[in-house]
Parts: sequence; C-alpha cells; structure tokens
Amino acid sequence: MTQSANKVVIFLGPPGAGKGTQAERLAREEGLIKISTGDILRDHVSRGTELGQQVRPILDAGALVPDAILIALIRDYLAGMESVRVIFDGFPRTRAQAEALDLLLEELGAPVTAVPLLEVPDELLIERIVERGRQAALRGEAARSDDTEEVARRRQEVYRKQTQPLIDYYGARGHLRPVDGVGTMDEVYGRIVAALG
Ligand code: AP5
Repeated sequence: MTQSANKVVIFLGPPGAGKGTQAERLAREEGLIKISTGDILRDHVSRGTELGQQVRPILDAGALVPDAILIALIRDYLAGMESVRVIFDGFPRTRAQAEALDLLLEELGAPVTAVPLLEVPDELLIERIVERGRQAALRGEAARSDDTEEVARRRQEVYRKQTQPLIDYYGARGHLRPVDGVGTMDEVYGRIVAALG
C-alpha cells in the first residue's frame, strides 16, 4: 500500500461529547482502525492485568493515567503498521502526548489528517454520562465506574485543565475542525463528514 493511503484522524472533545460513538461509525464507514485509549485501559482493568490494577484507581477517580504509560501503549499499537489508517479516540489528552504522537507519526511518515473537535455544553455532557450509567444499571450491566455525576464533573475539570490546551495546539497547525456536537447522532455524523471534506 502507498503512503498516500495513510489517514490519521484525532477526535477531540470533552467527556461525553460523542467521540467514541462517532469515531466508531467513521472507522466502520471509512475502513479505519479506531484506537480508543479509554477502551484499552478498561479492558486491562476488566482482565485484571498488571496495568489494569495500576490504572484502576486513576480511572475510578476521573484523573489521567501517566503520559509515559499512554505513549508506550500507542507506540506499541502503531508499531509495524504498514499503512496508518487510524482514528484516535481519547488520545492525545495532554501536550506531552500530542508531541509524542507527532514524533511517532513523523517516523511512520503519516502526518495528522484532521482533528474534529466535538463541542457540547457542559450540562448536556453530564446528562449524557449520567444517563449512560443509568441505562447500564437498568439493563443489569455494570456501569462504567466513572459514569457518576461526581466523577463526570471531575473528568470535565481535568479536560479543561489538561486537554483543552490541545485545541490551540492543533488549531495552530491548521488541523482543527470544530463540529457542533448537539443534535441526533446522524446529524452530528453528517457534520463531521462535511468538516473532514
Ligand atoms: P475515555 O474512555 O476516553 O472517556 P472520556 O473522554 O471521558 O469520554 P466518554 O467515553 O465518556 O465520552 P465520549 O466523548 O467518547 O462520548 P460517547 O460517544 O461515549 O477515558 C476514560 C478514562 O481513561 C479517563 O478519565 C482517564 O482516566 C483514562 N484515559 C483514557 N485515555 C487517556 C489518555 N490519553 N491519557 C490519560 N488517561 C487516559 O458518548 C457519551 C454518551 O452520550 C453515550 O451514552 C452516547 O450514547 C451518548 N451520545 C453520544 N452522542 C449523542 C448525541 N448526539 N445525542 C445524544 N446522546 C449521545
């Protein structure tokens, strides 16, 4: 496969904005691999691996897992990919992660294609997250440990302090594509596709 087949999309946005939902559909429809660091970490927690045991209290508290762990994880994930056709959901989340990702992508000759930023008002975000927890409980499933109102607010705070600066980081590089994240999932998806051109 040629280098031109590379495609790197990074979904940015606060907790509950719809990154996972929209990234999943885009991956399916565009033939891309979705890399969700939250899913990867939760999988480690549920399997009780050493990493899972280490990060469990961090996820429960709504804090960020140390950069070095995430960067190593992504490095392993990208290693050996012949063409880099990926969507990142939940990574990078700090400037250090963004800079490390740029270096990894440079080594692979696969620059960032675009960064859709899903914009949703704070209170709606909390509603969505709490509702997800409630629905899981109604189905008799285990809800995400961080889907309580208290932890969701903490995740919002962490987003504001540590991840929001990436809006400027990608804006300065011309990659940012702000998208209104309010509306039906189909409406939001349509806006993302239009923003990606
Ligand atoms: P992560 O799993 O990445 O969670 P998050 O960013 O907090 O995001 P969510 O999954 O809650 O929201 P989302 O934007 O994906 O929205 P979703 O599509 O799910 O991270 C969890 C934890 O892992 C972190 O707190 C941290 O501890 C750790 N971690 C992960 N990555 C890390 C990193 N890089 N560095 C350090 N630590 C890291 O939608 C939310 C809900 O809304 C769903 O129920 C959905 O059905 C609903 N919904 C979506 N769209 C709509 C719509 N248009 N209308 C109505 N409802 C909608």
